[in-house]
Amino acid sequence: MDLEREIELIKRASADMQDEQDIVAFLDHGTIVSMLVERLARELGEPEEFCQELKVAGMLHDIGKLRVASNIYGRGADSLHVSRMRYVRMHPMLGIDILREAGNYSEELISYIANHHENYDGTGYPNHLEGEEIPYGARILRICDSFAALVSNRSYRAAFSVDAAVDMMIHDVRNFDMRIFLAFLSVVHSDGFGEVERVIARARRHTQFERRKSETT
Ligand SMILES: [Fe+2]
Repeated sequence: MDLEREIELIKRASADMQDEQDIVAFLDHGTIVSMLVERLARELGEPEEFCQELKVAGMLHDIGKLRVASNIYGRGADSLHVSRMRYVRMHPMLGIDILREAGNYSEELISYIANHHENYDGTGYPNHLEGEEIPYGARILRICDSFAALVSNRSYRAAFSVDAAVDMMIHDVRNFDMRIFLAFLSVVHSDGFGEVERVIARARRHTQFERRKSETT
């Protein structure tokens, strides 16, 4: 299954995004998370249907950010950190609205996306769920999303290496479901991980290339 329908939905929802670079980065991040969650679900021995549903959820998990894009991306972004963070924290719930309006996503998939920032120890958002109160698919997304963010360039820091990202996640392991996290480490150390690393490398080149381009204009 490809993700054409999801990419189309993201492009339609991203009308507020001024900067092409932000859309490319959004799609790159979704692609990396999508590849990781599918592999992780398979490593956990889940049925194929669930693996495919998570693959879709991985691509769409941040879609709620697009509804407040003008407040969190680009030059129009709110310069006050606290204010910007308030908008960022709205995105799991805003994702519910977009996906219900789209009409072809299950309530299970929507619950994974609504809860992808919940931490296993109860310190996440938006509902401060804890442990197994957090939907299983959301716990899988949380781990893959954290890793994908760490290994990618951000406007305020360069990407971390895979090893450094894993070390940082071990340090913050209370955020994660330990059984899923151990399976995630197996995915990272598996032979097939090279394919994911190639997509991570391509995403880094996009951000470097765009940054150089904007420096010269
Ligand atoms: Fe997110």
